[in-house]
Amino acid sequence: MHALFIHELKDLYSAEKQLTKALPKMAKAASNEELRRAFEEHAQETESQFGRLEEMFENLDAAPRGAKCPAMEGLVEEAKELLEEEADPHVLDAALICAAQRVEHYEIAGYGCLRALAEQLGMREVASTLQETLDEEKKTNERLTKLALSEVNEEAMVGAGKRE
Ligand SMILES: [Fe+2]
Ligand SMILES: [Fe+2]
Repeated sequence: MHALFIHELKDLYSAEKQLTKALPKMAKAASNEELRRAFEEHAQETESQFGRLEEMFENLDAAPRGAKCPAMEGLVEEAKELLEEEADPHVLDAALICAAQRVEHYEIAGYGCLRALAEQLGMREVASTLQETLDEEKKTNERLTKLALSEVNEEAMVGAGKRE
């Protein structure tokens, strides 16, 4: 079980590392100001989430290297492909939210599993740190949902209409 915990921890470490690079790019590509801010703020948060994982490895006396998260690689790749497309900027915003929410759901699943493992292993403090990150991921996901429903999707409809 402990080996599984470390394996899962490495997976998220790799995922967060990739996201510290991808999120600022997504922020730059966003046209909607609120969306850009959401990406920027979550990029900052992601840095500190990555830091928490680094600290966990230190405390557990384990090395974080040796695992690349191919799932996150794929999700980031999908987001990158969007940035290369010549889409209406508002439609691109809507697409960026879809890509970002896939990422957040992956993280929510990962941190949820990891927290459950930590609890099972009696690592209370680790579990509560993981919960802290899990809450941030959930909040980000909700924020993106609200943005899509309140303005971004509507702007995309108008934006796409203009192009026709
Ligand atoms: Fe994260
Ligand atoms: Fe996240």
